[in-house]
Amino acid sequence: MPASTAPLVLGIESSCDETGFGIVRGTELLANAVASSMEEHVRFGGVIPEIAARAHLEEFLPTLQQALDTAGVTLDDLDAIAVTSGPGLAGALMVGVAGAKALALAAGKPLYGLNHLVAHVGVGVLDEVRTAVPPAASGARPAGVVLSPEPTGLPESLGALLVSGGHTEILQVNRLTTDVTLLGSTIDDAAGEAYDKVARLLGAGYPGGPVIDRLAQQGDPKAFRFPRGLSAPKFVGSAEEPGKHRHNWSFSGLKTAVARCVEQFEAAGVPEEQIPTADIAASFQEAVADVITAKAVRACTEHGITHLLLGGGVAANSRLRSLLAERCADAGIGLTVPPVRLCTDNGAMVAALGAQLVADGVAPSSLDFAADPGQPVESISLVA
Ligand code: KG4
Ligand code: ZN
Repeated sequence: MPASTAPLVLGIESSCDETGFGIVRGTELLANAVASSMEEHVRFGGVIPEIAARAHLEEFLPTLQQALDTAGVTLDDLDAIAVTSGPGLAGALMVGVAGAKALALAAGKPLYGLNHLVAHVGVGVLDEVRTAVPPAASGARPAGVVLSPEPTGLPESLGALLVSGGHTEILQVNRLTTDVTLLGSTIDDAAGEAYDKVARLLGAGYPGGPVIDRLAQQGDPKAFRFPRGLSAPKFVGSAEEPGKHRHNWSFSGLKTAVARCVEQFEAAGVPEEQIPTADIAASFQEAVADVITAKAVRACTEHGITHLLLGGGVAANSRLRSLLAERCADAGIGLTVPPVRLCTDNGAMVAALGAQLVADGVAPSSLDFAADPGQPVESISLVA
């Protein structure tokens, strides 16, 4: 489709603590404005839904204006508006959905209520992501991108691994706009949540991901052997007879193991400053990266997935990136890791998926849809 006739779509994201407005023309990213309320959650050590919702309300118009200015377009120019309808925090989603409906009604534009998880995969269609050089695993051959000509330009037999403060999922993307299935997910904490909790235990600050990642660089990942959740044979089973949790993760046991480890040092009278926090951080990070990548690669191999896209804030993690690149290369799986600003929650991903839906002729959602905090991944866009 020539760029000039490709659909111009505004995407709105408000499922957690980022207020995102992205504008995409077809597969070209024109603007990606994000305001985060993260600073307001720091003293609580986690996202407070009510604070996030209020911040979305405050940031809605300024961030929208910023995106329109950057793209040099007006609401009138748009072909459609897309908004995250779920999954996510109820109050936060409601602000985005209500605002999107108001804009759609005022500007007379079709509106799409979209699935947040599938939107994370949507960034894969953007020109700058498709043409990015795949990450190389140390000592292994670089994973190659095999692009299919139609319909989305995404690699064929695609999977997506989404790892953030809100989710840990592996998806099979048969067709981005109509056919996505969930292969596995966390049954308790999300990986990013585990990082945040462990950082709190170690007194390392919030958000936990970056601080633990930094601390881990100075530690020994083999110092402690922390559990890899749901890896016992009774959960995993075999390829022929899969266990109930073959492709699922659990991080609550790992978090508890780290807590017990710190408590043992305390009970033994070890002064706080002598507790080996760097070794604990490195060993924790190794357990997270090991179990995420091992299970993701197994799910891909057993479901014929030959290319994997990584998304979510934890995609910034150094060990997750290197171990995933290594294991994907060993398994002959191509890997796409978008730039971090497109991995964390943003409006560009919503706009990108929206543009694909328009191009694919999928009918818009009716204006009376509601935010759905538990929207299943199979529900890619809400039906008209
Ligand atoms: O996608 P995102 O911005 O929003 C949520 O869905 O939460 O992800 C934020 C999460 C936080 O939990 C943060 O601790 C984690 O991503 N994170 C990291 C790193 N950078 C951010 N986790 C591990 N290592 C990092 N370098
Ligand atoms: Zn997300």
